[in-house]
Amino acid sequence: MSEINLERRIKRQAWVPEHRFFAVTAPGLEPLCAAELASPGVYDIQPEPGGVNFSAKLETAIQANLWLATAGRVWLRLKDFRVRLWEDLLRQADSVPWEVFITPGAPLNIQVSLIGSNLKHTGRVAEVVGQAAGKRLREMGLAPPVPAKPGDENAQRLQVRGSDRRASISLDMSGAHLHKRGWRAQGGAAPLREDLAAALLLHCGYDGSQPLLDPMCGSGTLVIEAAAMARRMPPGLGRAFAFESWPCHREAAWNYLKTQAVEQALGQPPALIMGRDSNASAVALARGNAELAGVGQGLVLEKGDFFAAEPPPGPGLVVMNPPYGKRLGSVRQAQEIARRLGQRLAEAYPGWRCGVVLYLPEWVELLGLKDTSVITAPFGGLKVTLLSGTVPQK
Ligand SMILES: C[S@@+](CC[C@H](N)C(=O)[O-])C[C@H]1O[C@@H](n2cnc3c(N)ncnc32)[C@H](O)[C@@H]1O
Repeated sequence: MSEINLERRIKRQAWVPEHRFFAVTAPGLEPLCAAELASPGVYDIQPEPGGVNFSAKLETAIQANLWLATAGRVWLRLKDFRVRLWEDLLRQADSVPWEVFITPGAPLNIQVSLIGSNLKHTGRVAEVVGQAAGKRLREMGLAPPVPAKPGDENAQRLQVRGSDRRASISLDMSGAHLHKRGWRAQGGAAPLREDLAAALLLHCGYDGSQPLLDPMCGSGTLVIEAAAMARRMPPGLGRAFAFESWPCHREAAWNYLKTQAVEQALGQPPALIMGRDSNASAVALARGNAELAGVGQGLVLEKGDFFAAEPPPGPGLVVMNPPYGKRLGSVRQAQEIARRLGQRLAEAYPGWRCGVVLYLPEWVELLGLKDTSVITAPFGGLKVTLLSGTVPQK
């Protein structure tokens, strides 16, 4: 096949049919991610523990990488099959159109996970799949992939999973974890992970139309995620993705998607977004991060003590990630803070919607909110509670 014909076939095979994908989320965030995915062109959305399966064309999955705020990574399922015998793996691995997605000559990291599978030997499974990819590329006159060196972050990541009688072969579309939006210069004392910040906002029903305050903004994660949502800016605009190095990648189509996203974004948030912190250097850090994220315009960031400062005109949504035991100060100190937070909320924020990241579920009571709803998710070796509620009217 001539080079031009091969290139045409590669593009057609990637861009014309629908494929199956899996968006990985932190356990607990699956329903939020499924709701984010629900849009034209996305079909058969099926959450399962740890992520959400969906079907879409490649262009839509590329947009999912760009737009998903609560996902960690998106896998393209190259194969999903029943395994009885070793030969089933050989046959399926041989039938993958590797030349469409695997960069010739590039490092390939094959991760294998087998739970109760007929396929017993992870090393051998990786070898077979790597050999199938190499053989196919060589047959096309292309350089085979090379095994990735340990810790090579830029290597293409392929995952083979076997569980009972089923197995799948998937290719990572995202590269670095999607919570890495590309704007964080420094973290500050205890930054919240971006997908959790987005999850808290979505859990509170935030859509950008109401005033928002984070009175303990630290490095600014919650206000930056809020500003991106309010201005309809994709969280992934400032970062690179693994699919950009695929042979089927269409640079012009990708640039068009990004340009379109920038053009439809609002220049300003439609309602107030304010971050405060009692620590002046945290405010400076939040300002720097907001500029790097491209959402500095219209964001109000100022020094202030939550227990002394008055709320901005509202009611709106007050979100916060107060200092908590394991990471800042002691547990008892943090419980005392939760109790005092509840008092201050009741005194100054009646009728406000409130979202809080808490270290212990027991603290839900200390805050005294009504109409509460919680999500728990792992974070930094802990299980944190994302609490949404309303501050009672006096
Ligand atoms: C866990 S950090 C917040 C991290 C932030 N969500 C981020 O992603 O970087 C808690 C923040 O609360 C601030 N803080 C503690 N007590 C405060 C108070 N009374 N008023 C305002 N800010 C306070 C600290 O300075 C710290 O930046």
